[in-house]
Amino acid sequence: MSIRYIDEIDNLAGKKIFMRVDFNVPLDDNQNITEDTRIRAVLPTLNYALDQKAKIVLASHLGRPKGERKEKYSMAPAAKRLSRLLGKEVKLAPDCIGPEVHAMVDAMQPGDIIMLENLRFYQGEEKNDADFAKELVNGCEIYVNDAFAVSHRAHASVEAITNFIPVVSAGFLMKNEMNYFDKAMQNPIRPLVAILGGAKVSGKIEVLENLCDKVDKIIIGGGMAFTFLKGLGYNVGKSLVEDSLIDTAMATFKKAAEKGVKFYLPVDCVVADQFNPAAETKVCTVQEIPEGWMALDIGPATVTLFAEALQNSKTIVWNGPMGVFEMDAFSRGTFAMVSAVANSYALTIVGGGDTDVAVHRAGEYAKISYISTGGGAFLELLEGKKLPGIKVLEDNGHKH
Ligand code: 3PG
Ligand code: MG
Repeated sequence: MSIRYIDEIDNLAGKKIFMRVDFNVPLDDNQNITEDTRIRAVLPTLNYALDQKAKIVLASHLGRPKGERKEKYSMAPAAKRLSRLLGKEVKLAPDCIGPEVHAMVDAMQPGDIIMLENLRFYQGEEKNDADFAKELVNGCEIYVNDAFAVSHRAHASVEAITNFIPVVSAGFLMKNEMNYFDKAMQNPIRPLVAILGGAKVSGKIEVLENLCDKVDKIIIGGGMAFTFLKGLGYNVGKSLVEDSLIDTAMATFKKAAEKGVKFYLPVDCVVADQFNPAAETKVCTVQEIPEGWMALDIGPATVTLFAEALQNSKTIVWNGPMGVFEMDAFSRGTFAMVSAVANSYALTIVGGGDTDVAVHRAGEYAKISYISTGGGAFLELLEGKKLPGIKVLEDNGHKH
């Protein structure tokens, strides 16, 4: 019932490894990678396997091509970037299954690495199709999942394939993700504080529910705060509110109180007369949001309050920005929180949404204990869910 990691497998020399990675990286209009953290994050596992002279077949998805071959979703840029990072040739296969790929894999020498073309060029991937999964195996003897960010998807290369490869294991990226998540949520040093932000409450209700059972404090920022504030009777102007979720939000608010979880909401905000970088802006308390204006960031008093709430924390988990940080005028709250978290004495774990982007942009990533590579996957862990890709690693890890 425990995950087997790649360093627990004897003798990788000459063995064919099918390694699922998540190289779903952002690209600009010219197919240039704008952020390669997810590629860098697998280098330890790759270097380990290469040092042992394994043969590595890398597989990933990129974007959502929906079962069709579309060149703009090619893995070519990722293969090229990886090749540069490794200082070693990474051949790109013309496809992810089929005779040509088979021949390429057959011809591999120890220490070779090839990258398959986008798995989502086939519908079988997202359908978790067994036949597609069998075709992916291509004679590989060892499966390694180092794709935490897609482990919440029961897809063929994540789930079904583990039934058809003798040895099922995980890489060091996965190990890091599991260890840090465990430290934060299973065995935290308290006080444990969760910071939640982002635009919407929808998609976060289960996270909130689960956090109420686990954490000592919950800090809410971002657009989602205004559904709570409206529920508390404030007039929030044109701020984003999900009216249909007010009752649910209030129910979690009550649950938190019943459980003795301290719940922090913004006390002031930056408001704008339109959703636009050039909007007119001002700072006001949440009681005084002018009619027709919208809150797009937390205000300075809130930053002080939230920073104060973090003061004695020993563990901090953070998902979601405090405002529309992509626009300068509404970025200060998020960046101030990044620095409060980065300079705290707590174990700090950041993931999901654009929180990692905010941390990078604030230049503080070196001071965060761990930045998860997962978006949706990290959120699902926070919801207390068992991810399908991790379940199969636990179930099959020591079977054979
Ligand atoms: C992600 O970036 O969320 C993962 O790579 C999974 O991709 P998906 O959300 O398209 O399934
Ligand atoms: Mg996603």
